[in-house]
Amino acid sequence: MKLKVLIVAGDGIGPEVTRQAAAILKTVADIGGHQFQFSEMPIGGAAIRKAGAPLPPSTLDAALASDAVLLGAVGGNEFNSLPPAARPEAGLLQLRQALGGFANLRPAFAHPALAANSPLRPETTSGADILFVRELLGGLYFGEPRAWDQAGGAAWNTMRYTRDEVVRVAHVAFRLAGQRRKKVTSVDKANVLEVSQLWRSAVTEVAQQYPGVALEHQYVDACAMHLMNAPRNFDVVLAENLFGDILSDEAAVITGSLGMLPSATIGGAVNLYEPVHGSAPDIAGKGIANPLGAILTAAMLLRHSAQLETEAKAIESAVVQTLDEGYRTADLERAGATGKHVSTEEAGALVQERLSEILKRARPMEAAAERA
Ligand SMILES: NC(=O)c1ccc[n+]([C@@H]2O[C@H](COP(=O)([O-])OP(=O)(O)OC[C@H]3O[C@@H](n4cnc5c(N)ncnc54)[C@H](O)[C@@H]3O)[C@@H](O)[C@H]2O)c1
Repeated sequence: MKLKVLIVAGDGIGPEVTRQAAAILKTVADIGGHQFQFSEMPIGGAAIRKAGAPLPPSTLDAALASDAVLLGAVGGNEFNSLPPAARPEAGLLQLRQALGGFANLRPAFAHPALAANSPLRPETTSGADILFVRELLGGLYFGEPRAWDQAGGAAWNTMRYTRDEVVRVAHVAFRLAGQRRKKVTSVDKANVLEVSQLWRSAVTEVAQQYPGVALEHQYVDACAMHLMNAPRNFDVVLAENLFGDILSDEAAVITGSLGMLPSATIGGAVNLYEPVHGSAPDIAGKGIANPLGAILTAAMLLRHSAQLETEAKAIESAVVQTLDEGYRTADLERAGATGKHVSTEEAGALVQERLSEILKRARPMEAAAERA
């Protein structure tokens, strides 16, 4: 298959982890005979230095002309004094908006090998595997009017949704739940907010088109508690922008390290794939960043932009195998625990080796299945 991937590595550890994710995609292409075409463009601080803007028009054009965009991270201390619209982070917000993805997918899962890294008890997190579907283009972050009237000592934002905005993201959640454990938990605050009443009624309407998927509604405050008490009870969690932002960060503790978390934003002109973490200026350039979140992001790219589900699963298995064998980047090491310390590059190479073995093992079986 042919796939044009734009890599916007960005700042800090962005280039370090994206290099490993791109190597993983190249391995998949080489072994499977796929034609993946890679190009690279600057974004964030790197783009400010090179072109004077956090999202140069050439980067945006290249993104819109690609089949998928793989992003590292943006941001750096040297840009902190710039006004918000000129900072590296503005480039990412502009890119997200221009690509138009309205559904942000963020998996949070318990790796048995990392159970002790979570502040939650292993018996609580064991087996947890949640997919957050967060609405990304509406709600409180975008609603008008919004203002801070400094003289008047007041500020306001507007949480606003149209039924169509809710319906389209609900379809994404139900479709994905149908491929998983067939349950959607829709989050709202319908006991207080009118916008949540609209949300609940639209989600309930969409659910009727997916009779095989169970729907439950939870208030956001209760959901925040249940996620920590009984994370295994969740499959797909569907939430509006603000609630999804908060709950998906909360659930990240199940995984044990920010460096493990992938994400995808789908539904727009071009899908955008990025690890959840930022540019981590405190560890940038030291070769110690965890590349597994970026590598798992590459798996999401294959799943959602190339429909290469077998290859996506193979990457996920290679990551699990690497962890099961005890290899740990610095963020995953625990005092007193035995683990084999590895650098960013070594972690990437280990996953790559295991991925090659998995894919090569699968090929003769696939060929036999085709012949049968
Ligand atoms: N999507 C993005 O590009 C994005 C997201 C969040 C923050 N940021 C930006 O990143 C900069 C730093 O922000 P922050 O410190 O709040 O968040 P951060 O995610 O960069 O770092 C938080 C902590 O987690 C650690 N960490 C993060 N990713 C890691 C990895 N892969 N391996 C090992 N350790 C890792 C960091 O060392 C740090 O201690 C800021 O400029 C911020 O605006 C960008």
